Amino acid sequence: MATIELNDVSLVYPLYGTKSRSLKVSVLQAATGGKFLKEEATVKVQALDRISFKLENGDRLGLIGHNGAGKTTLLKVLAKIYEPTSGKLNISGKLNSLFDIMVGMDHGLTGYENVLLRGLILGLSKKQIYNVVSEIEEFAELGEFIHLPLNSYSSGMLVRLGFAIITSISSEILLIDEVLSVGDARFIDKARKRISTLIDQSHIMVLSTHDHDVIRSFCNKVLWLEQGKIKLFGNTEEVFQERDRLLST
Ligand SMILES: Nc1ncnc2c1ncn2[C@@H]1O[C@H](COP(=O)(O)OP(=O)(O)OP(=O)(O)O)[C@@H](O)[C@H]1O
Ligand SMILES: [Mg+2]
Repeated sequence: MATIELNDVSLVYPLYGTKSRSLKVSVLQAATGGKFLKEEATVKVQALDRISFKLENGDRLGLIGHNGAGKTTLLKVLAKIYEPTSGKLNISGKLNSLFDIMVGMDHGLTGYENVLLRGLILGLSKKQIYNVVSEIEEFAELGEFIHLPLNSYSSGMLVRLGFAIITSISSEILLIDEVLSVGDARFIDKARKRISTLIDQSHIMVLSTHDHDVIRSFCNKVLWLEQGKIKLFGNTEEVFQERDRLLST
């Protein structure tokens, strides 16, 4: 059983080293990103502005919105990487997040050693690690390269290994930020199938992507963010219909 509940969650990023008088705040306000706050000597970005919603077992939420709308920030708050500046967050369930697939990879070590290392960090038993290793080897299709250091890999090979590693562990709550657009066409197809299995195994999933077809095929709910605020939240088709209506008027 997993649940996620947010009550009036806000997050403000302080921009250190920036004096408000040196920024043309009014110009920046016109951009699509978060809202700039001018306070005393520092400039702050209000990345999330009083966000409230609730997700229950079985919910698959798609996050949509312009660049800078707050999608990644919201996922990082859910992953407990960032603490909200204000508001309440209640999450129950074991978390796994698919963010930057290169995070935590050591380029001086072989693919094999990187997998072992990740398994140890995640607290897996020896037996679990060996199962995961052979499964990752098979999925990443690296052949003998799995025994060579990462700095001898092509960028496509790195993507396949990174993706195979971060998607090798299932969890109750799955958070995904834009990882579906990596690699070549054949790999994307394979990656989607693998993510879809992970999603099936999870109790709650939150996914951010600019690809609305991905959201339509995976999500039952959609949250549309605009400048850190909820513009719309509800069932996938209802949100897309209402969004089309708003954008056409
Ligand atoms: N570490 C940071 N420090 C300061 N401001 C940040 C930081 N990370 C994000 N921001 C700002 O917070 C706002 C929300 O950014 P976020 O990355 O959450 O947007 P996003 O919806 O994920 O955008 P994209 O579609 O481009 O991935 C933006 O205005 C961004 O400039
Ligand atoms: Mg983002």
